[in-house]
Amino acid sequence: MSPAGPAPAPGGIVQAGAAAAERQRNDLSADDLKRVRQVTAPADDFSKAEPFELMQAGAATVKPLINADIFSLPSATLTFEGRQRFQMGNSLFRKDWVSSPSSTQASDGLGPLFNARSCQACHVKDGRGTVPGFDPMERTDAVALLMRLAVPARDADDQRRIDTGELLFLTDPVYGSQLQNFSVAGLPTEGRLEIEYEPITVKLNGGETATLMKPTYRIENLGYGPMHPQVQFSPRLAQPMIGLGLLEAVHEADILANAATEKRDGIRGKANWVIDARTGKPALGRFNWKASQPTVAQQSAVAFSNDMGLSTPMFPSHYGECTEKQPECFKLPHGAQPHLGEHEVPGELMDLVADYSTNLAVPQRRDVDDARVLAGKKLFYEANCVACHVPKYVTRRDAERPEHRFQLIWPYTDLLLHDMGDGLADGVSEGQASGREWRTAPLWGIGLTKTVNPNATWLHDGRARTLLEAILWHGGQAQAARDRVVGMTPDERADLVRFLESL
Ligand code: HEC
Ligand code: HEC
Repeated sequence: MSPAGPAPAPGGIVQAGAAAAERQRNDLSADDLKRVRQVTAPADDFSKAEPFELMQAGAATVKPLINADIFSLPSATLTFEGRQRFQMGNSLFRKDWVSSPSSTQASDGLGPLFNARSCQACHVKDGRGTVPGFDPMERTDAVALLMRLAVPARDADDQRRIDTGELLFLTDPVYGSQLQNFSVAGLPTEGRLEIEYEPITVKLNGGETATLMKPTYRIENLGYGPMHPQVQFSPRLAQPMIGLGLLEAVHEADILANAATEKRDGIRGKANWVIDARTGKPALGRFNWKASQPTVAQQSAVAFSNDMGLSTPMFPSHYGECTEKQPECFKLPHGAQPHLGEHEVPGELMDLVADYSTNLAVPQRRDVDDARVLAGKKLFYEANCVACHVPKYVTRRDAERPEHRFQLIWPYTDLLLHDMGDGLADGVSEGQASGREWRTAPLWGIGLTKTVNPNATWLHDGRARTLLEAILWHGGQAQAARDRVVGMTPDERADLVRFLESL
């Protein structure tokens, strides 16, 4: 599943990445750098909103009516031509692909194994996906909750492939890197994901309690015999799509500066160096729950391949995630049409989807000047949430796309990995991310989650039904921050949540 490329310098991908890293912001003049330092300094006055705080994605922020389409709008900085491309990308993101052969030749090639027919099926209205019901009586199929499948390294050669970035992790020999619970007619599906939740009660200061739901996973109706005896599961919920191009435009030096500093509570983030499939070289991982992909374009191509079984120039197999142990999978027709090019999703269409995925706008904040929201913001700083959820950056002046250049943005993430404790651990490592580490989730737009998808939930596997539950699951490096929230008065906790809801 991971992009293969020439092995980087001996000594592994970490050294190679660190050696090639841009340590200085050489996109800025000395004057600009001074201004950037000023505007990105931590807040110290909580009596009023900071300048520009309302526009959390800089000039790219949108300010429309708040409704369920709020995550689906183009960045305000897009040109007329950019908007036209965005609209074309939008229809591809929404399009339902069909299996081959079919009469609609430009839309076929789905599968043979797949998780969903469209990007939108998982990224609901460009927001996060839905986990199958917490209600034990409800038995819908998991779509937006992907199950990654990993097995331990067998020998030194396996380990070398991981250390050099050739592989992100070792996959199940029969089922591959993720469970596909759908397939084209005539081919068995890989299995069905069953989830059970065990309620855990947490007592909070002030006499309140919260109930956390701890998930356990089982795979039933295995279509291709047993899985590897040591297979490990890593569930991943589809993430919101807003602001991704701006995150790509955050300067590497700003991210690595955070990784180089130990913060209060002993918190220190870690970079995930991965291979950029376009260059074959190590690059800083920024996307996905474990920061396993360096660019939006690469993750989008991975999604076409693994989630839908569609070939692109970056991942040219027409058979997606079929493995050698599933020979019947390779006998089915594919959707590449000689007159349309070699790939089921030709390069031009892939580029439109990638452009679209980098330009979904972040909405303007609400209630930035409200006294309770400001009180919550102060608590967010005092509880040391900001050690990981780093509030602000100014994007690169020389970012690849003009619409992402030199914007003051407020994503509330350091894009780095942190040990989050046993409660959230999945035991699966991906690149340098260990089985206990996750990338700090960006918080911009988080207050509009349920406006966009009323059934959406939080954290990498969607186990948190409320923002408070998401906080209470924090452990490991975030244990002290979490404990401060448990110790707050009920009013303070409500203010902290009000602040998150205003993002
Ligand atoms: C079967 C469900 C599913 C489908 C279909 C799907 N995605 Fe995703 N997407 C996910 C999941 C799950 C993640 C997080 C993966 C991880 O953490 O490893 C994700 C992550 C992403 C990210 C990174 C987001 C971030 O904040 O880091 C991008 C970009 C993305 N998907 C684009 C796409 C595109 C484009 C398509 C269609 C070509 C698509 N996805 C189809 C489930 C899906
Ligand atoms: C040590 C770093 C760290 C600290 C400190 C921290 N977080 Fe997080 N936060 C994370 C990581 C990593 C995730 C993703 C965890 C996962 O999905 O398993 C996360 C996820 C979240 C989410 C859910 C986001 C989503 O998209 O599902 C919320 C809400 C959140 N944090 C709020 C807070 C608040 C409030 C505080 C302070 C009380 C805090 N965090 C402190 C690292 C941190």
